[in-house]
Order: sequence, then C-alpha cells, then structure tokens
Amino acid sequence: MYDYERQLSRPTKLKLADFERNQRLKHVIFAQQLTRPILESICRTASMIRDLSRSADTARFLGDLLPHKRAMLYFTQSSTRTFLSFQAACQILGMKAAEIRDPKVSSEYKGESPIDSMRMFSSYFDLVIMRTGEPSFAERCAYLMNDLDTFNQRSVPIINGGSGADEHPTQALLDIFTIQRAFTFESNRDTRQRTHLQDLQRKHPNLRRGLDGKTYTFCGDIGRGRTVRSLAVLLSEYDDVTMQFVSPDHDILRLQPDLRDRLIAAGVKVSEHNNLSEVIDDTDLLYMTRVQSEHTTESDKKALDKACREAEYKLSSKLTARMKEYAPILHPFPRNDEIPVEIDEDPRAMYFREARNGMWVRAALIAHLFDIDGVIRLKHDEVMSEYHGYNEAVLGNR
Ligand code: NCD
Repeated sequence: MYDYERQLSRPTKLKLADFERNQRLKHVIFAQQLTRPILESICRTASMIRDLSRSADTARFLGDLLPHKRAMLYFTQSSTRTFLSFQAACQILGMKAAEIRDPKVSSEYKGESPIDSMRMFSSYFDLVIMRTGEPSFAERCAYLMNDLDTFNQRSVPIINGGSGADEHPTQALLDIFTIQRAFTFESNRDTRQRTHLQDLQRKHPNLRRGLDGKTYTFCGDIGRGRTVRSLAVLLSEYDDVTMQFVSPDHDILRLQPDLRDRLIAAGVKVSEHNNLSEVIDDTDLLYMTRVQSEHTTESDKKALDKACREAEYKLSSKLTARMKEYAPILHPFPRNDEIPVEIDEDPRAMYFREARNGMWVRAALIAHLFDIDGVIRLKHDEVMSEYHGYNEAVLGNR
C-alpha cells in the first residue's frame, strides 16, 4: 500500500479500468474516463435533476435519495464555484457535507500525512471530493481506496475537483452540458425558439445540432489551464471537430505538445494563434480563460508579461460583433479583464449559466456514483407523463 509510483507512471489509457466498476465510474480522476456514453448519460440525468428541482414535491423526492450518505469536501486549493456547486449538489440529493479548506486546521499541521488524512476521511464519510495543488494526489487517493477495497477495508469514491495544472474533469463535464444545451438551439421557455434552428440553418447552411462538426476556440492561458486540457480531451470524442488555440506567444502559455499530439491523434484539426481576431469569425464556440499569474515565477514574469502585451487574447465588443450570432461564450471563471463586463449582457455570454449548470451536473455525477440515476429517471418519466397527460386533457376540453 501507499506506493503507487508504478501505477502513476503508466499512460492514462491503461489506468481507466482501475477507476471503473461494472461499466460505471468508481472514482472520477481523469476527463478521459468520461466516454461519450457516460457523458450523455450524466448530462441526461443532470437535465432531469434540473427539472425535478423546480417544484417542492419533486425536489423533496431528490432530497430523500441520499440522506444516509455523507461527503467530505477536501479543498486545500482555492475554489469558489467548484466547492459551492458540489456543496449545493450534495444538498439537492439530501447528502450531508463537511469541509476542510485549510490544512492548518486539520492534523496535517501536526505532521499527519495527507494520505493518512484521506484514510481517516474514508472512515467517517461515504465520498471524498477534493482539490489540491499537487498534480497526482487525487489519483493516488483513488489507488489507496482501491487497495483498501482489495483488503476488505472501508473504501469510498474519490472525485477530483481540480488537481495541479493537469486535470479538472468535472468542469469539463459541466462545460459539455452547457455546450450541449446551447447547441440544441431551442429553449423550453419560449416556443417561438423552436424554429430558431431552421432560421439559423438558412443563414449558416453547415450548422448542425449537437457538438459534432464544430469549431471550438480556446483563448488565454492554454498551457496552464487545466479546464482547457480536460475540456479539449472530452470534445475530441466528438466527430469532425476543429480546435483553435489562442495564447500569448510563450512556451508556458501556449498549447502543450503532449495535449496537441493527443488531440491530433484523436482526429482533431488543431491550429495555434496569438491573436483572437485571426479566428473569431470562424468560431462556433469561444472558451475564454484568465492568465493564471499566481503560478508565474519571478524569473519568468518579465517574458510572460511581454508575451501578454504583444498578444490579442482579450475579448472586446468589437470582436464579439464579428462572432456568429449563435456562438456561445464560455469561461470557467474566475475572470480578470479578458472579458469586459459589458459583454455580460450579450445573449451569447453563457458563463453564469455555465456555473449554475455545475450544480446539476455534479448532482448527476454523484447520482451516477451511488447508482441512483435509474430511480431519478423513473421519477422524471412519471412526473413528465403526468404533466403531458394533464396538458392533453386540457387541450381535449377545449
Ligand atoms: C478554474 C480552476 O480552478 O482550474 N476555475 C474553476 O474551477 N472554475 C480556472 C481558474 O482558476 O482560472
């Protein structure tokens, strides 16, 4: 136990089977675990949870699903949205949540190893959701849980809520959900929108519903953005995808060679740029990110600042005016000044909705891990058929 170097050094592809059980996720560590069928199933559950949360009765049904389970939110790296949306997700399903955000208030301060802390969490809780600055720590914890399982000890699922610069699988999941919803080109609230896709197709003949065949532009700190890495990996699962990466011209900030090779091997058409205006007209979806200057060392600062000054990686109303009328603008947040606030009013600006979607998707992910997505689907079908039955009756009486 505890020595996982051999497992950690293998290619991700070979690790995936370690983190699943009966074709379900056992731990959520890498974006690559979220295959298209799993993604689609979680997104479907997320939509249902969203629907069921609307009325008190059905929200109560959701809240009665996991009252016997407890989650530990172990977030020793700063977080607002990921932390709060996981907390809200637990609340939706009636799961109690405890938190540690500052290792100084835990026994780690007294010299306890983080791996011992993790084993303790598994004694008290049924799920550990974690964010750390250390790249492979969540993965190590998942191997620890697998070992405990092998020795018939208590073992709980681990969810990676962001680890180092390499992975943020649940952000990618909520981004996919947001993109999927945007590319259905309709809105339940407004029936006039039903013809919206046809109107758009008249103007943009190649436009299709869904994520296939689209041009995705990622802009900002491509090199250090773990959300970019994880989302690009998920989008490479779709057919006929083009990805344009815009970053200041510096090795630390540009697309890293390992990710570029991986995307090309998956059949993605990849291009790299330093100016947003070179690619803005072709973009079907724009994914903005901030420059993560808290990771910049003193010795790199000057060169990075210069690269940033010379590149065009900030959005402006002038640039959005050139964007396609349906092209969503996403941002994992927090933002600095790469999206000026006046763009928030643009109907294509979806970053606040994107953050809210995090709550539904994370609740759906927890539902998947605890195998309660089937009951949610049954309830949703039942409620929807009652709803439609009622509508038909009303229509019949007319
Ligand atoms: C991001 C992160 O922490 O990786 N934020 C998030 O989880 N929504 C991006 C960032 O910090 O810039």
